Amino acid sequence: MNAEMLYALRDPAGVPSHPLVFLLLGVLTFALHAAAVQVMLGAGALVLRGAFSADAHWRRLAATMLSTAKIAVSVAIVIGVAPLLFVQVTYDPFWYTSNVLSAWWVIGFVVILIAGYLAMYGFYWRNPDLASRPARSGWMMVASLALLLAVGFIMHVLSYQMLWPEQWQAWYAPGGRVDPSGRTLHAWSLPRFGFFIALAAPVIGAWLIAVRRYLQGARERDARYLDFLARLGRQLMLAGGVVALAFGAAWIATLPEKMAFFATSPWMLVALVLLLVAVALPALLGARLERGLWGYAVFGVGAVALIAVAAAREALRYTLLAGTHGYDALDYRIHMDWYSTLTFFVTFGVLGAAALGYLLTVAWQAGQHRGGVFTPSAAVTRLGQVSIGLLVLWIVHYFAIGLWVMGR
Ligand code: HEM
Repeated sequence: MNAEMLYALRDPAGVPSHPLVFLLLGVLTFALHAAAVQVMLGAGALVLRGAFSADAHWRRLAATMLSTAKIAVSVAIVIGVAPLLFVQVTYDPFWYTSNVLSAWWVIGFVVILIAGYLAMYGFYWRNPDLASRPARSGWMMVASLALLLAVGFIMHVLSYQMLWPEQWQAWYAPGGRVDPSGRTLHAWSLPRFGFFIALAAPVIGAWLIAVRRYLQGARERDARYLDFLARLGRQLMLAGGVVALAFGAAWIATLPEKMAFFATSPWMLVALVLLLVAVALPALLGARLERGLWGYAVFGVGAVALIAVAAAREALRYTLLAGTHGYDALDYRIHMDWYSTLTFFVTFGVLGAAALGYLLTVAWQAGQHRGGVFTPSAAVTRLGQVSIGLLVLWIVHYFAIGLWVMGR
């Protein structure tokens, strides 16, 4: 597949804003997706570890982590849509070809995801009181994690097949015989996939350190539970960080020749340094973790490290496709549409910030509140009213602009 063919597969309508905007948003939203996926997998693994334990702290943690995992699946799915949209815009020749080559799995992805999520809910319905009773139907939680991992593997294969345009023809017509079934997954890198999955351990470790800080804020009475969380969080960050870095090293060591440049890429090195800083942070902070907002800082630095990992991953794709395959994602024809660009950023920055800000503030404050019914302050209630108003305005605007365009 030469560069001319790749360019011919582009959308002739061009893109409605500078391609760099889509690349940056792709990196940012992929990092958020990865964080949600890692919290989901890490929390799910802790449920399995704790649900069958005789230790009261482990069982309490398992109950909490089950709620976390349930929510994290939905966040991972919702935030997964964003990089899906961005990758389609700038890399459409690659993404769609990769999807068509394994179309059966692309559709199967949805079914497997539904089954995985249902299995998690099945486990939840069977165990409404995980903290106090022995767990039942553990196989459901095992099945859920296995299915969710399968979903992640399909995503990995789709992302990886994109990088092999020279193989597409052979995959589509092996030995010259066309195979349009889309039943085959053609290429993957287990160390790369393992790296993204293993990051779940340090990420959930950082999450536990933040949970502990949150419980301190809510005047948690069980000091031994707080100690348990601190110990476990640190252990997971350190041991999990080492395992994730080992997978990362294996990924780099097994890079195919055409990707070898990535081993010394400054993007990769910056990501590595930030990951090391994040993993070492609890030890560096020491007793400060007990004070102020430091308990949350570990997760914050971890999030920055994940953005650096996402940027390095994008640098690998961009440089490979531009350098070896002659496809520059940044020279996409621009058909500037200021109105839709503005609508996107206003929706994201104003409506999104107000509505999410309200929901998170209420959830946060309600969790920190002790004794009696929680009533939000007048300012928080006002924020809720403003976000509903903005939402109504947005919906009216959506239909108004649609009708106006249709009527022209
Ligand atoms: C719930 C289970 C899921 C897991 C464990 C998972 C895991 C992953 C992993 C590990 C990658 C990185 C692959 C690589 O670069 O090698 C990835 C990429 C991706 N995921 Fe997910 N994912 C899940 C669900 C979803 C869902 C539901 C969506 C969309 C609605 C989604 C959208 C994406 C996209 C678009 C990418 C690639 C982005 C790009 O190449 O720029 N994922 N996912």
